[in-house]
Amino acid sequence: MTHPQRLALRGDLLDFTAQPARADPDSTALRFRPDHWLLIDAGRIVGAQPEPPGEGWARIDHAGRLILPGFVDTHVHSPQLDVIGSWGAQLLDWLETYTFPAEQRFADPAQAERGSSAFLDALLAHGTTSAVVFPTVHAASVDALFGAAQARGMRVVAGKVLMDRHAPDGLRDDVEGAERECEALIARWHGRGRLAYAVTPRFAPTSSDAQLAMAGRLLARHPGLYLQTHLAENRAEVQWVAELFPQARSYLDVYERFGLLNARTVLAHAVWIDAADRALLRERGAMLAHSPSSNLFLGSGLFGWAEAEDAGVAIGLASDVGGGTSLSMIRTMAAAYQVQALAGTKLSAWALLHAATRGAAQALGLAHEIGSLEAGATADLCVWDWAVGAVAQRRQQIARHLHEKAFAWITMADDRNLVEAFVAGQSRWQRGDGAPGPVK
Ligand code: GUN
Ligand code: ZN
Repeated sequence: MTHPQRLALRGDLLDFTAQPARADPDSTALRFRPDHWLLIDAGRIVGAQPEPPGEGWARIDHAGRLILPGFVDTHVHSPQLDVIGSWGAQLLDWLETYTFPAEQRFADPAQAERGSSAFLDALLAHGTTSAVVFPTVHAASVDALFGAAQARGMRVVAGKVLMDRHAPDGLRDDVEGAERECEALIARWHGRGRLAYAVTPRFAPTSSDAQLAMAGRLLARHPGLYLQTHLAENRAEVQWVAELFPQARSYLDVYERFGLLNARTVLAHAVWIDAADRALLRERGAMLAHSPSSNLFLGSGLFGWAEAEDAGVAIGLASDVGGGTSLSMIRTMAAAYQVQALAGTKLSAWALLHAATRGAAQALGLAHEIGSLEAGATADLCVWDWAVGAVAQRRQQIARHLHEKAFAWITMADDRNLVEAFVAGQSRWQRGDGAPGPVK
């Protein structure tokens, strides 16, 4: 008899057991198990073996395909699918012209529900099974997102956006109302299933001192919450923050002064930071969500990967849609490579894949659950074609070793390569081309 909860998946298993050096194609941190069966029981990975399992296991044969842990997008905005590819702006006018109007539409709970479901389905269709997400200032947008994540079993970190100034009508809150809503949302969602709450001041310019202080109080009152915000993305923004907070040594120091930096802090961008900032980030254990396609698209600047890594700061990768141009973490890895190439740093395929999986998981304190194919982890994983189309097929055929294959894959692949996505051992997305289903 087949046990309904026992599933074996065949393919080329690739994950990491340690952090690879950033430019080493021969890293031993990589674990590659070609043509293995990954064993999943009750939603968790329980092992892997070269031979097929015996009786009692449902089998899905993806021989010749790549199986990776589901990607972790460490910074993305659920209401911003509608503004991807908006022309001709940098951060501050992009927010005013395109993004705030899209977020105003989430004031309607029905729109927030439709938008949140579409957003999470789109993440899955791009191979992302976990994400750190900004919804909007509206509490209903948080309920909609967490509700949709729960329905899909996904690991999502999110929270109500805090904005009590420098934002248009319909997108501002106030300190007392926001605190009340945050408390209710924390009670409702934090630690429920695979969901975690993040205190979410949008960025320093849109929160008053009183609101940033309230954010710090929430963190102090509820150990275990995350904090997410934006940091030093764009030069005009950095200048504005210096004017708004003249006492602060730097943009990062604003967050430090309000007690917002700790090991569960996720800071998007950090393009314009200095050595003292990096030392503080390391001391606090905060992570950076590097968003290369967004930084290029909005003309924000070039993130210093080597400087951050050498300072001991953890780096995750992020799509930052809709400033970013794609939800695909493969396209994000390719953009990260290109940004670092401009600085003479050649990130290996392993450094990129690690940052999109185990590295992000570790920085979020979730490595026991996500980011790897280790026994005990939740079975969040994706099955990928090594090549789609004649040019990629030819490129894969002539690749001489694994790093060459993996790097060509990062350069050429996208969401069309995704065959099937699993969340907690459940198939949640399949490509509609007759990819094999479970063997009865
Ligand atoms: N800074 C403040 N808000 C945003 C946002 O929505 N996107 C990006 N890229 N940067 C921001
Ligand atoms: Zn962002």
